[in-house]
Amino acid sequence: MSSFLKVSGMEFAYGEVTVLRGLDLEVEAATISCVMGRNGVGKTTFLRNVVGLEKSSAGKVFMGGNEVTNMEAHQRAARGIGYVPQGRQIFPLLTVEENLSVALEAVKSGTRMIPEHVFSTFPVLDQMRKRKGGDLSGGQQQQLAIARALVTQPKLLVLDEPTEGIQPNVITQIGEIIRNLVDEQGITILLVEQYVDFVRKFADSFQVMNRGRFVAQGETSELDESMVKKHLSV
Ligand SMILES: Nc1ncnc2c1ncn2[C@@H]1O[C@H](COP(=O)(O)OP(=O)(O)OP(=O)(O)O)[C@@H](O)[C@H]1O
Ligand SMILES: [Mg+2]
Repeated sequence: MSSFLKVSGMEFAYGEVTVLRGLDLEVEAATISCVMGRNGVGKTTFLRNVVGLEKSSAGKVFMGGNEVTNMEAHQRAARGIGYVPQGRQIFPLLTVEENLSVALEAVKSGTRMIPEHVFSTFPVLDQMRKRKGGDLSGGQQQQLAIARALVTQPKLLVLDEPTEGIQPNVITQIGEIIRNLVDEQGITILLVEQYVDFVRKFADSFQVMNRGRFVAQGETSELDESMVKKHLSV
């Protein structure tokens, strides 16, 4: 099996409070896998452990067959993990170009140029290169956050609720862009998403998290109403 990301037995606690209780996940290369679940069940914490921003108390993480468990976030980034955090977290006072350049500083390779394909993927950012990040709409800021993760040309892109607080027409655009990254560039994607229609339309597989455990998983074609009702409706 050609899983690009493999997580086994991941556990994590904030102090005394256990949040992740033994998570196993495999994401096949060039597919989109989606973690769903109600508020506060540990989705963001899981992503932060995958990208190395939190240190798991147990478990292993493999990327492209190589173990990265003991690597810091910047080392995992250098191995090809790109991360788009929840709430976007762009720099509001920097221009679009400057926001993208900051991400380049993080990679130690020689290049200091923003790859042109980033602007062809997001034409709206091309038009707004000199605009301040804080002056963009929510949807444009989300595109900037994704573009920022792409300047380092990641093999695995990890996104935390990319559609949160965004208008429906822009949600579709973002879904199509993500799908194209997978289908045309072979990038592997792990994302957290609450919006069931988006998952059905754009993702390949899903897992539902509840209180730090995966309680359901499968192909997105199997994501039916009874499952949504049982695990996801509030
Ligand atoms: N830095 C922190 N210190 C202590 N507890 C935290 C911290 N961050 C999150 N938590 C707690 O850990 C649990 C999981 O939080 P997490 O943010 O991973 O959930 P989530 O599923 O991403 O939620 P949401 O859907 O609201 O984004 C929650 O109970 C939260 O209060
Ligand atoms: Mg979250």
